[in-house]
Amino acid sequence: MKNTNKDIKKQINLTIDGIEVGVDEGSTILEAARKLNIHIPTLCYHEDLCVAGNCRVCVVEQEKVKSLPAACAMPVSEGMVIHTNSMKVRLARKHIVELLLSEHHADCTKCYKNGICELQGLASQMLTGDHLFLDLVPDHKYTIDMFNTAIIKDDSRCIRCQRCVRTCEELQAVSALGVAYRGNHMKISTFFEHPLFEVVCTNCGQCVNRCPTGALIERNYIDQVWDAIYDTSKHVVVQTAPAVRIALGEALGMAPGKIVTGRMVAALKRLGFDSVLDTDFTADLTIIEEGNELLSRLKKALLDKDPKVSLPMATSCSPGWIKFIEHTFPEFLGNLSTCKSPQQMFGALVKTYYCQKRKLDAKNVVSVSIMPCTAKKFEANRPEMRSSGYKDVDYVLTTRELGIMIKQAGLDFESLPEEHFDSIMGASTGAAVIFGTTGGVMEAAIRTVYEVVTGREIPFEGLNITPVRGTEGEVREASLKIEKVKPEWSFLEGVELKCVVANGLAHAKKVMQDVKDGKANYHFIEIMACPGGCLGGGGQPIPTNKDIRTKRKQAIYEEDMGMSIRKSHENPEVQLIYKEFLGQPLGHKSHELLHTHYTPRKRY
Ligand code: SF4
Ligand code: SF4
Ligand code: SF4
Ligand code: FES
Repeated sequence: MKNTNKDIKKQINLTIDGIEVGVDEGSTILEAARKLNIHIPTLCYHEDLCVAGNCRVCVVEQEKVKSLPAACAMPVSEGMVIHTNSMKVRLARKHIVELLLSEHHADCTKCYKNGICELQGLASQMLTGDHLFLDLVPDHKYTIDMFNTAIIKDDSRCIRCQRCVRTCEELQAVSALGVAYRGNHMKISTFFEHPLFEVVCTNCGQCVNRCPTGALIERNYIDQVWDAIYDTSKHVVVQTAPAVRIALGEALGMAPGKIVTGRMVAALKRLGFDSVLDTDFTADLTIIEEGNELLSRLKKALLDKDPKVSLPMATSCSPGWIKFIEHTFPEFLGNLSTCKSPQQMFGALVKTYYCQKRKLDAKNVVSVSIMPCTAKKFEANRPEMRSSGYKDVDYVLTTRELGIMIKQAGLDFESLPEEHFDSIMGASTGAAVIFGTTGGVMEAAIRTVYEVVTGREIPFEGLNITPVRGTEGEVREASLKIEKVKPEWSFLEGVELKCVVANGLAHAKKVMQDVKDGKANYHFIEIMACPGGCLGGGGQPIPTNKDIRTKRKQAIYEEDMGMSIRKSHENPEVQLIYKEFLGQPLGHKSHELLHTHYTPRKRY
């Protein structure tokens, strides 16, 4: 591709700490300093969000200018001379952090973010000790919202940087969080200060992932899982989601984008889980159930001309998306696939099929899942998720929580050997792995559905259906012409299957609004609540930003390419479970254990 004049931006030259640098017009001082590998501390700034410029931790000194500009917000100008480490700058930053701490309940040893908190890191870097400002903490009445099964909001640890508010509004279009009151009383609040579980919050955890302090954290279940492991009367089964294996290394000091599947399995075995299984198994199962559901809806619409059939059909794997649609577009709940998420299918099968095969009593089995997601915690606690007769998934841990457990156990993660998942419910395919990235469920479904209908492999090199691979920050539409079908699928001959893929709830909202307004005529919609899909989930290691998500995505496709089986319907354990237990896709047992219903909820 050729550069056009429009692509070339004017270069601005400036000097930072005595070094000259040229950057594109419109860049900020922070971006210019990063180009020189000069570190300027930040707090309210986050790469994924618009600039707020409200904490002022990033101040720098500009020659011939009296005030100190905020590097994250100030655009560069020609000839600018900047000092990032002068006496004036250092003192200003120290006082800013001391001011923040004067309003902060800094009981770090009791805080979940101890050791990984950005505020604590700055305090330690700036050697804030006895400081100039009055301690305002005793005068404040702080709220701690502990009512949610997924997220805890502790106002005493909030520094009012508003990263959470911007995340919820800009990326997720949910606006569950906002700013209330003014001045010293300003706080981050919800609609009429209701607890998070009573408002539109989807539990996506994107705010948790971006909160620099312990003010927004996941509800952790680490101690409960340790208790289960140490209880010799319990058989503890763990399942791990696709996006965990390409991010867990980051929680343990490794570079982003490392595939650690084998080491993760080894670590889980050493932690003491009785059986280490793979959510990818039920991701493959989801494709069989959901693919059949899509075909059945298409048949009703195209052949039977049933006016009541709900098309487009939308995926249902992402629990943040499910809660979003329940609140925001309840009239479209019939368009959701009735398939449970792979996590919940897995939980229901652990306490039925797995127990039957292993001759275990389900009441003695504890089912744990490791997820990139905080919304999965909420999902596991939905009242309808008890189709085994027990709570199908007892505890959900995020990738971060598993990282903590591995550290608690003193394991040297990087030196662990590569081990394999146990059987049964441990076999998977490349199609299941790509569930971890945006567009993956769509691609996995098409790999199977196309082959079922035509008897041929999808005609894309290496099975890589690149047109449906989602891209962060955009809604991706694609269509696929179905030709030369088997006789029993003749109603699909020549049909152009129209698909759309979106990640992040702001994009999901756009897709659904277009459907509602009659501007789009899709057959199949894939939505993932988090930017980039599950690999960018709210429970993934911190930091998560676009560069890191890109590396995780590359790792997911690499893992897919390395699998010996890459189509869900070829998973031998999936074939076996239909033979031994489920009968047929969409059959009676499947409906009982693998499918669910949804709950319309109010916007407020
Ligand atoms: S939020 Fe950070 S500074 Fe505050 S108590 Fe927790 S670890 Fe300490
Ligand atoms: S809850 Fe966290 S992200 Fe939100 S304003 Fe407070 S410190 Fe910032
Ligand atoms: S969990 Fe998601 S929806 Fe809920 S407040 Fe945070 S960003 Fe908003
Ligand atoms: S990081 Fe620049 S003002 Fe907060």
